[in-house]
This record gives sequence, structure tokens and C-alpha cells, in this order.
Amino acid sequence: MMTLDVTTPERAAMYNGNRLKIGLFGANCSSGRAVTMVPERWSGSWADNLKLARMADDAGLDFLLPIARWKGYGGDTDYQGATLETLTWASGLLASTSRITVFGTVHAPLFNPVIAAKEIVTADHIGGGRFGLNLVVGWNEGEFEMFGVEQREHDARYDFAQEWLDAVKQAWSEPGDFDFDGRFLQLKGVRAYPKPYGAKSYCAKSDGAKPDGETRPIIMNAGSSDIGQAFALRNCDAFFVATAGSRMSLEGNASKVAEIKRAARDFGREIEVYTVGQVICRPSQQEAEDYYRHAIIENADWGAIDGMLANKSITPQTIPPDEYAAKRRYFATNAIGGYPFVGTPDRVADELDCISKAGVRGIALSFVNYLDELPYFCDEVLPRLVWLGARVKH
Ligand SMILES: Cc1cc2nc3c(=O)[nH]c(=O)nc-3n(C[C@H](O)[C@H](O)[C@H](O)COP(=O)(O)O)c2cc1C
Repeated sequence: MMTLDVTTPERAAMYNGNRLKIGLFGANCSSGRAVTMVPERWSGSWADNLKLARMADDAGLDFLLPIARWKGYGGDTDYQGATLETLTWASGLLASTSRITVFGTVHAPLFNPVIAAKEIVTADHIGGGRFGLNLVVGWNEGEFEMFGVEQREHDARYDFAQEWLDAVKQAWSEPGDFDFDGRFLQLKGVRAYPKPYGAKSYCAKSDGAKPDGETRPIIMNAGSSDIGQAFALRNCDAFFVATAGSRMSLEGNASKVAEIKRAARDFGREIEVYTVGQVICRPSQQEAEDYYRHAIIENADWGAIDGMLANKSITPQTIPPDEYAAKRRYFATNAIGGYPFVGTPDRVADELDCISKAGVRGIALSFVNYLDELPYFCDEVLPRLVWLGARVKH
């Protein structure tokens, strides 16, 4: 059996000279990552996604990360009620851009691994090696019922995902047919061509092609449990952490990054640490803070936030009222969008530089309205990050 544990540095924007990679997170979903009722909230439409991807590509951003979400969270806006499926979304965007990496997010229990392996390779060929895989095991119980698929108990989800990924990697690398006889998956006579972009067996020109099995898409995961983290460290190139706690403490972040990298080395692997955040950047601090309060707190879709908390069995019936109120507020302001970068271009750039100096390799950002707000971020924050040495000039 061939194993495949490398992604090639030259294949994607994720390996460029930017010390801090910057991506956009959640644009394939209605409302994106802001649980807000403001009328300018994100549409999530294909037309807007396409414009956004081209804008990000032109501006030199590094990646686009979608969310695989199958059911909205309710509330007045049915937060994330309309979502573009991520592999097809990524394929369309890869065909329409030229340098940015585009991730697709796959729920291992919902996708047949041989079909997924081929869909991923197809997207990878469309993008000339720019596809990235976010492998997830499932977060929200209610979503699985509609597929007629029973969600496994938490840790078994990762056992299944391991086998699933082993089968996918084998399909990406194995010359000829193979059988896969696992605990969960029994696959007979698997044949999968082409191999990922840049592999020799399917290159019209063999110049620069790699032997089969020596190139594959970048893989990420964001498991937060011990077993989820161990899965990421064993299998992935990029590990996303969502915690906001000590985001602005250089030492706190640096030691967290060092700890994750050390743990990966125990598995004999190198891993890069990424995180997520939301940006509200305006010419003055006051303007930024006023809009943040207006969009994220005063006009929060509290019904949707209550729905998310209920998913985690957090309700006014299960915890005391003041604790519930604090949880709701924390969810609205931090947990959903990630750490809020709110302020002037100087402040946002300084805060991003701080996480970069701590060793965080990249961040997936969201905006209330990505298309309206990204130009200002690109014009004002990106040059400051170049000046600070966190990014190279595009
Ligand atoms: C940046 C990021 C992206 C994620 N994307 C998805 C997603 O698209 N779909 C999904 O079901 N879960 C997604 N998750 C959830 C994680 O894969 C994971 O299930 C969650 O953090 C809980 O960790 P655990 O599975 O180890 O308990 C994401 C988490 C983060 C932080």
C-alpha cells in the first residue's frame, strides 16, 4: 500500500512568502459568520461569492475557507440557512481565479470516500493544484438525521475519519487497483485516475511532474477535543484553533503554538497553526466600535444564537439566568466569528501582526459584508502588514 503524506510546497498560495497567510472564512453561507439582522448582512449568493473571490485573488489574499453547513440555525434571519455546497463552490471559484487556494469542506461520514477522492482531485486539477481539503466529522447533531445517517459517538467519528482519509489518500496515490479492507470501509478493486494535480501519471507534459504519491492537496482540520486535535496532528498540514482567550497576549499565543507544534513532532510531523477572526475596520476607532456594537450586539439575531446554544444543550432551563446571559453575549461577540479585530487600520494591523509574531501561520477572517468591507481592509491593512514584515508586497 502506498502512503501519501506530503503536499508540495510549490503547488499553492499557502506556501508563499507571507509570514501571516490571510483568508476569508464562511462566505459560502448566508450571513457569513455574523449572526446579525442588519440589512447589509452577507447574502452568500453565488454572484457575490464570485466577485469576492476575484477581489481576494487580485488583492493577494491566500485562501478561501467555506463552511459545510446543511441546515440553518433559525432565528429571524435563519442564520446560515442558505449555503453553497463547498466542493462545487470551490470548483467554480478555482476555475475563476488564478492564484488563491480554495478549500472545500467534507463531512467524512456523508461522502463516499472514492467519490470524494475524485471530486477533490477534479477540483485540484481545475485549480492547477490550488484546492485544499478541510476534513470534518460533524458538529451539529440535527444535521445528520436528514441524510439518514446516524452520527457516531464523538471519538468514534475520528476513528471513522482516519479510515476514510487513509482510503482517500490511497486512491490519490496507488498505481493500479486496490482493495481496502477496514473496520468501517470495505472497498473492492478501487481504481482512481487522475491522481492529484502535478502527479506524473496524468500529466500531458511530464516536465516537473512528481511521481504519483508525492503530491496531494493541503489538508486542514479544526478539531478542538483531544481526539480531534490528535487527528489533526497526525494527518493535517494546517490546524485551526478557534479559541479567543489570550489572543492578544504574545507569550500566551506563542506558547500555545509551540505546544501544538511540539505535539505534532511527537507524531513525526510538522504542522502550521491557524486561527479565525472577524474584522470591523474603519478610519476611526469610534466608528469601528459603534458599528461593531450596532451589528453584532444591538442587532444580533438572538433567536439564532439561542438555537446554537440549545444545540449544545445550553438553555435558560439548564443553567442560571446570569450565566445564560453571559454565554449568549460571548457567543454573539467571540465564539461564532472568532476574535473581533475592531478598530482603525493601524490597530487591526498591529493585532494581526501580534498573532503572527506568536507563530500563528494564518487567519481566516470574516466581515459583516465581505464585498463592501474587503476593499478598505486590502487598501489600508495589507500595506501596513507589509510594512510590519508580516506579509510580502503583492
Ligand atoms: C475554522 C473552523 C472551521 C470549521 N469548519 C467546519 C465545517 O465547515 N463544518 C463542520 O461541521 N464543522 C466545522 N468545524 C468544526 C470542527 O471541525 C470541530 O468539529 C469542532 O471544532 C469541534 O471539535 P471536535 O470535533 O474535536 O469535538 C470548524 C471549526 C473551525 C474552528
